[in-house]
Amino acid sequence: MVDLAEAGKIARVEVGSLVVYVITDFELLHRVLVESSADYERGLLFERIRLIFGDSLIVADGQRHNDIRRLLQPAFHRASLASYAPVMRRNADALASSWQPGQIVEARAAMLEVVIANLLGSMFSHEPDSEEIQLISGLIEDIGAGVMVGSVLPKRLANLPLPVNRKFFAAGTRLRDYCRELLVARRAGGERRNDLIDILLDSSEEAGHDDEFLVAQAMTVLFGGTDASTAALTWALYELSQHPEVASKLRQEISAAGDLGPNDLDELDYLNRFLNEVVRTHSALLQTRRSVTTVELDGFTIPAGTDIGYSLTAIHRNPDVFAEPDVFDPDRWPTSNSGSKCRSFIPFSMGKQMCIGNNFAWVELQTTLYSLLSKWEFLPTTNKKLPRALGPIPVPGKLPLEVRPVAG
Ligand code: HEM
Repeated sequence: MVDLAEAGKIARVEVGSLVVYVITDFELLHRVLVESSADYERGLLFERIRLIFGDSLIVADGQRHNDIRRLLQPAFHRASLASYAPVMRRNADALASSWQPGQIVEARAAMLEVVIANLLGSMFSHEPDSEEIQLISGLIEDIGAGVMVGSVLPKRLANLPLPVNRKFFAAGTRLRDYCRELLVARRAGGERRNDLIDILLDSSEEAGHDDEFLVAQAMTVLFGGTDASTAALTWALYELSQHPEVASKLRQEISAAGDLGPNDLDELDYLNRFLNEVVRTHSALLQTRRSVTTVELDGFTIPAGTDIGYSLTAIHRNPDVFAEPDVFDPDRWPTSNSGSKCRSFIPFSMGKQMCIGNNFAWVELQTTLYSLLSKWEFLPTTNKKLPRALGPIPVPGKLPLEVRPVAG
């Protein structure tokens, strides 16, 4: 994806019989996602997601998308986030307390579990047991793999009973049932928690949404909120294990700040710069759109129905914007008091369909790392290249790290 930029601002890529025009330039992408977004629909990846998510935020376009987004937005407001942060802190503290000095921790699995517990504990006001967490993490992995593989399979193979397809559809059904059980239990219990479930249940009374619609939105948040946050946290721990000088600077900042509440972590300037660098260097590899009318892009006339791709990874590794883009360097970011972030830093994408969970994610990344780094150092256990798991943000399938207590 990064090398494609050498071919031009837009590059024609053939994946088997499929042709995708991949945009590698920020301004051109801005035209597609922001200025002329009405000329595009979601495209390949989302067609696949639609098969199991149905009528939901993550696949909707146009007015339908605006309406669903407006419905869900209150669950992501700042006031709601302030009430989620203590839940995240509790989950991260419990994880940090469960480790023993010298233990080899499988960091990706641990991050996946904490992320699922955060989502369920905050937006769904539900404390999952470890069996439930295992169940959900397996389902989300199967859906993620099925989305990626199925999007590039030729149409005639995409619905055949191949193992990846079977797992994809079975996981979709199970996740749907799980979310339905949560909704039904809340409705039966009658208690109010002012969370995502309450927002959905209220909308069924006020706007007449049926249960299938409500379940689709709950699944969307659970799915959308898991993969990318897990990837960001896993890469954060990986980078800490590879850059002891960065880890030590972070720990000094945390220890100098004293005991901070879960809503005070914006104060940790270096932590925020570190997180910027994590999501810059590890962002979504490929997202899709499809033209719904004839469009002109960089001098090329592109007919309606053309598959477009874009890579945030490529945008974030442009050497004209980010000097030495492959070097992991939190100091490339200005201190928080000295100005805004760079325009082409878009880990959460841009336009109307940008990530709805960006602020939730940031609080989660800050809180989790604050708790883990307050107690532990992370050391690599191998210098072999780690195989990547399939997903929108490629991440090591397993990341074994040794944990050592922080000195003093
Ligand atoms: C570091 C963490 C995260 C990253 C890097 C990330 C990235 C993204 C990106 C790039 C998109 C846009 C996809 C597109 O337009 O094609 C997106 C959409 C979305 N994200 Fe996130 N995300 C993160 C965390 C979260 C969290 C925590 C949640 C929920 C709690 C969430 C829920 C969603 C949803 C529902 C959408 C679809 C939004 C819409 O279509 O209106 N994400 N995310």
